[in-house]
Amino acid sequence: MRVVSTRNSQILAARVAENLGIEFVPTAYSRFPDGEHYLRTGPLDGETVVVGSITDSDALVQLLLLLDACEETETTLVLPYMGYARQDRRFREGEPVSARAIASSLGMGAARAITVHIHEPSILRHFGVDATEVSLAPEIGNFLSSLRLEDPLILAPDEGAVPLVQAIARGHGWETDHLVKTRLSGTEVTMSPKRLDVTGRHVVIADDIISTGGTIVQAAGILKEQGAISVHAVCVHGVFAGNAYSLLKGAGIRTIASSDTIESACAVYSASGMIARTIREC
Ligand code: R5P
Repeated sequence: MRVVSTRNSQILAARVAENLGIEFVPTAYSRFPDGEHYLRTGPLDGETVVVGSITDSDALVQLLLLLDACEETETTLVLPYMGYARQDRRFREGEPVSARAIASSLGMGAARAITVHIHEPSILRHFGVDATEVSLAPEIGNFLSSLRLEDPLILAPDEGAVPLVQAIARGHGWETDHLVKTRLSGTEVTMSPKRLDVTGRHVVIADDIISTGGTIVQAAGILKEQGAISVHAVCVHGVFAGNAYSLLKGAGIRTIASSDTIESACAVYSASGMIARTIREC
């Protein structure tokens, strides 16, 4: 078995190979004069693990090309971050179910798929092959533990992130809660934790994705007004679109941390161990 990757997932792919004790095969990436992607990998035979996060449309095309380059091997697709997953249903007439379009296209080139916190687990069925989801809650919990915050409160920004915060806190004895939005007027909305008081507490907001940072910035402002000593933000997928990082820092978020499903300076815990373990169990 060998590991190959798209351009923007090389670090994670190399870590997966290292964890499995197998070869990481380099791939050359370039473009044709008209901008089309070209890549060349190999030599490959037997089984291949293809690692590629969909961080943008170029990454998606590279992943499709790489899967095709591996078509003579039995391929395990590792999709650490699946862009387009948030359009997981038709919200308005005439829209695509983007998650289905992407999953079904990728699934055609693979024998199985492994994803990491895919935003909505029902997307897994669209791959058309055996597809599983890996959780990084233990890695995030261990990272938070290393910060040595006294009696932290782990907070989900919405109800959807409750299972993630509960899994992060498991085994550490930390309290968890989630934010609830209350409409004050036609234009004003406030948020506060559903059950707990944040006064005098270190609060960690945990979400699957930080994209524009808007959710966390808004929550942090309100939590500080309510008396939180410090606010920290952890996520699985650090998209950090546009000036998200500056906005988060400007809002006084003390820690900004993500996994390496998307490579950045904020990637301080790795998905490689859980991905390697899942590959071993396949
Ligand atoms: C939403 O469904 C996700 O779980 C995140 O809460 C969302 O993607 C965060 O986006 P942003 O950082 O742009 O507020």
